[in-house]
Amino acid sequence: MCGIVGYVGQRPVQEILLAGLEKLEYRGYDSAGVSVLAEGEIASVRAVGNLSKLRAAVLRSDGDAAQPQSAPVATIARPATIGIGHTRWATHGRVTEQNAHPHFDTSDRVHVVVNGIVENYLALKTRLRDMGADFTSETDAEVIAHLVSHHMARGSLVEAVRAAYAELRGHYAFVAMSADEPETLVGARKECPLIVGRGDGEQFLASAVPAFLAHTRDVQFIENEEIVIVRPDGVEFETPDGSPIEREITTVDWDESTAEKGGYETFMLKEIHEQADAVAETIADRTLRDDGVDLAEAGLDESLFEGVERILILAAGTSFHAGLIGRYAIEEWARLPVEMDIASEWRYRNPIVSERELVIGITQSGETADTLAAMRLARECGAKVLAVTNVVGSQATRDADGVLYTRAGLEVSVAAAKTFVCQVAAMYLLALRLAELRGTLPAERIAELVAEIRRLPARIAELIVSLDGTIQAAAERHADSDFYLYLGRHVGRAVALEGALKLKEISYIATDAYAGGEMKHGPIALLDESTPVVCIATDMPVLDKMISNMQEVRARGAHVIAVATEGDDRIAAQAEEVIYVPRTDWMLQALLAVIPLQLFAYYVARKRGLNVDQPRNLAKTVTVE
Ligand code: AGP
Repeated sequence: MCGIVGYVGQRPVQEILLAGLEKLEYRGYDSAGVSVLAEGEIASVRAVGNLSKLRAAVLRSDGDAAQPQSAPVATIARPATIGIGHTRWATHGRVTEQNAHPHFDTSDRVHVVVNGIVENYLALKTRLRDMGADFTSETDAEVIAHLVSHHMARGSLVEAVRAAYAELRGHYAFVAMSADEPETLVGARKECPLIVGRGDGEQFLASAVPAFLAHTRDVQFIENEEIVIVRPDGVEFETPDGSPIEREITTVDWDESTAEKGGYETFMLKEIHEQADAVAETIADRTLRDDGVDLAEAGLDESLFEGVERILILAAGTSFHAGLIGRYAIEEWARLPVEMDIASEWRYRNPIVSERELVIGITQSGETADTLAAMRLARECGAKVLAVTNVVGSQATRDADGVLYTRAGLEVSVAAAKTFVCQVAAMYLLALRLAELRGTLPAERIAELVAEIRRLPARIAELIVSLDGTIQAAAERHADSDFYLYLGRHVGRAVALEGALKLKEISYIATDAYAGGEMKHGPIALLDESTPVVCIATDMPVLDKMISNMQEVRARGAHVIAVATEGDDRIAAQAEEVIYVPRTDWMLQALLAVIPLQLFAYYVARKRGLNVDQPRNLAKTVTVE
């Protein structure tokens, strides 16, 4: 996720912004920039790469004689005491200096830093362009600078932000600064976090507390759908239509490492809690139409899908499980045959693949050696290759004919959680788009699925909050078990595989995961009274079959922990424990069903006192062939 920092006060702002951005490095970024305001002018410096590049560029522009001036870097004015900074994790547009923030309007009088996604940016961009705005980047964020500037023709910065906010759709937080109001920053929050740090004669704005923790521990949390006006002598909170809001000051006692984790005890737990936001970013501007999905974005030319007779999905680990859910969705909705293999197996199979096939390589890092090698091999054989990845500019994006980004933001925890749910969401979008192009679903069914996909973020958020205590208690009860079996059928099998992988990789407990129908062909011999068996029994066409499998498990005295759909009263009679997830379309239910299993693995591992963020023997990216 991108990082925002803003400052207004009495001290030189450059170092405060740079040091603040450095404290946000853990969030991941590919480029960065700062804008500062002094003597009625805004100066801006942006750089691709790590913050040392930005620091060097700021020094050069600040007149360091030791460094040659590099055009086209603007001059950073020394006396500036107000400014904004940003670290960007690319989602719309490539990793370039032009696409880095801050973005500015045509007259260079309004600068903004933005996190998140503006869903209706294309319509706004067209309108603003027709009115004379000169766009200089490929980003959705730049529309906010032009829009605020447009509204400033009739009012103050805060009035312009209010007017802009009313027109923007999406999921974002931004801070705006105008050369005409040298003592004011205005921030707006819609879903994405933004926090005020209170000082004496100075104030801070940031997307996360570490950015200003060295200066103050007094914070004011900006709630969803609020605007803040920040000046050296105080901060005003208001609703988007300008009604004032009272907000108390909270003193945080976090150390730096807790602050980086947003107050959570580990990155994994923080990232599990970020899943609603992450999925919202994945689907945002791709589900604007009620009657379908739009994937035509940088790098994804839909001619890739023309003439495709078969799809082959290749991946590793958790990404393989996301692919398995995607396979069921593509076959169910788009009626295209889909084969799957583990990348490290397929590449050594002397594989048969042709130009009539679309190969989808799923890799959150975009750098997994086996997946990359398999994608390259498929391409050499003439197949078209689509990469589904989280990292803009990663090797997978360079080795593919098209890219579908998952937009989960940086995941620090080795165990994949938010990148997984975003991969699944991206695969749902792809499956639905293919169904639309191939005419395999009635219009009403597509509309129904789009509506359900849009509701996923809210359902994820609700699920995590409501289940946390229940799952902690279940984990307490079962943390000492030394073997678990996970069972699922159809799409529930992918959920079982992922739940079992999460448990084994962070708790080091032996787990096995099987298709329910396979149980009696061997694994049933493992069961006794001491075995917890996690059964995925959410709504799906083969639920009755799954219920039979649960009965077989119980007949051996094993302990069934079922994951079921809210409102399904058949499951409680078949299980010792039931964890309910909100009802949605049965195919989408798979994404929701994984979340309690992530939490379960997490709390079991914590109960066993393990370091979940860095499990033994595992690396975040497996790049060695
Ligand atoms: C899962 O928690 C692991 N991090 C691992 O299985 C991972 O999914 C696998 O190594 C593939 O990584 P990739 O998505 O970056 O290619």
